Amino acid sequence: MSDETTRPAKPVGGSGPGRDGPMRILVVDDEEIVRDSLRAWFEMEGYVVGVAPGGKEALTFLAEGHWDLFILDVKMPGMDGLELQRRIREAFPLAVIIIMTAYASVDSAVQAMKEGAHDYISKPFDPDDLERVVRNALARRDLEEENRRLKTNIEQMWRFDEIVGRSSPIQEVLDLIRSVAETDSTVLVRGESGTGKELVARAIHAHSRRRYMPIVIVNCGALPDGVVESELFGHERGAFTGAQYQRKGKFELADGGSIFLDEIGDVSSKTQMVLLRVLDERMITRVGGNRTISVDFRMIAATNRDLEAMVAEGTFREDLYYRLNVVTIRMPSLRERKEDIPLLTEHFLERYLRAMSRPPLVFAPEAMDLLLRHDWPGNVRELQNAVERAVVICRGSRIEPTDLPFAGAPAAGPGGRTLADAERVHVEGVLREAKWNISQAARALDIDRVTLYNKIRRYGLQRPGE
Ligand SMILES: Nc1ncnc2c1ncn2[C@@H]1O[C@H](COP(=O)(O)OP(=O)(O)OP(=O)(O)O)[C@@H](O)[C@H]1O
Ligand SMILES: [Mg+2]
Repeated sequence: MSDETTRPAKPVGGSGPGRDGPMRILVVDDEEIVRDSLRAWFEMEGYVVGVAPGGKEALTFLAEGHWDLFILDVKMPGMDGLELQRRIREAFPLAVIIIMTAYASVDSAVQAMKEGAHDYISKPFDPDDLERVVRNALARRDLEEENRRLKTNIEQMWRFDEIVGRSSPIQEVLDLIRSVAETDSTVLVRGESGTGKELVARAIHAHSRRRYMPIVIVNCGALPDGVVESELFGHERGAFTGAQYQRKGKFELADGGSIFLDEIGDVSSKTQMVLLRVLDERMITRVGGNRTISVDFRMIAATNRDLEAMVAEGTFREDLYYRLNVVTIRMPSLRERKEDIPLLTEHFLERYLRAMSRPPLVFAPEAMDLLLRHDWPGNVRELQNAVERAVVICRGSRIEPTDLPFAGAPAAGPGGRTLADAERVHVEGVLREAKWNISQAARALDIDRVTLYNKIRRYGLQRPGE
């Protein structure tokens, strides 16, 4: 799922106050009489109303806070309604927009609807017409939000079923997911890259009482110190240069749901401190704000790093480590559960055949044999990519060894039989023992460093973690 951080809004009634206070409506029209009468009418109904005589003036209102509903004249001098609508969509993707048009400009109204306006109304109209249009538009918006919420849930459910595996290590993981899902405990998911850590986090959320609320994903590895607080806790308008609008942070968006902190082993010491505080206090303050907001979240974190070693060498806070390490789920590498390879292969094969609308394909026994012998440093993700690639390049009705990415290259591990295979395995082993100290490894191999570099390049050897 892409950054699904938008939480489902609380339902907004057909009219009158909704959300956290009265609904806010902005009316934009160059005719004063229209502005005045709409303002009077909406205020009588209990809405907060802003009016602007043109697009340019409307933009200053946009910067001023949240608006739920916009009523725009399509034909105005300067910036017309269509252009304004685009600007509004950028600032408030979920806002309801209604276009007012004169009989002669129905074409523009149609264009506006294509670009996401909810409805239009022809001038002149009486208040009853407008009320009906507003009610319908709000009801449709609620329906859209409901759909979006349901769709997210269905995807999450489906993803749980996606954890494929019959081997006992993966069955143990599934058992643990089921029992931990019911609790609110912090969960730390560990395992090599591509073993399915994110899948597990989503499954826990999907099976918890929080499943109707969002799971917010934070890639901690990509959080520079300068933006940590505004990303996690949000900011008020004007908190810093460029903070044009108030914005909620990840923790606030996760309120009632779960927050998944991915790559937790890669965070700076500043971020570690910030996280420790929010885990303890369960409160946040937006940057530039002075109100503390309490947030109710379930924390799931993941890492492929050796946190214990990091604690020992002082690069990961011990207190944070203990807060995170309440329940740990260890994802087995694919190497440790090779019996799942045929099942996973079948699963991905079906998925890609369906996605690419291709007729059925099977793996030749020799190709399956290669899959079973491969070492899978990239785990399930590597297997998934290999299957996708095979489906794309396979010409016949059987996937052959040559359709696999590692067919030509020597297999990692003890699989290959050529001299080059043996050399590669040996060089890799010596490098590992020497902790990739090139001079030391070259001495052990009794070759010079340039020759060693050439072999590293030829066999595509990679220092772990690079
Ligand atoms: N048991 C599984 N069954 C089916 N698909 C899986 C399984 N495990 C992982 N996958 C798939 O493999 C890919 C990698 O999984 P995921 O992103 O959860 O791994 P990860 O451990 O978070 O990796 P990284 O550490 O690199 O972020 C995803 O496309 C996921 O759907
Ligand atoms: Mg991941």
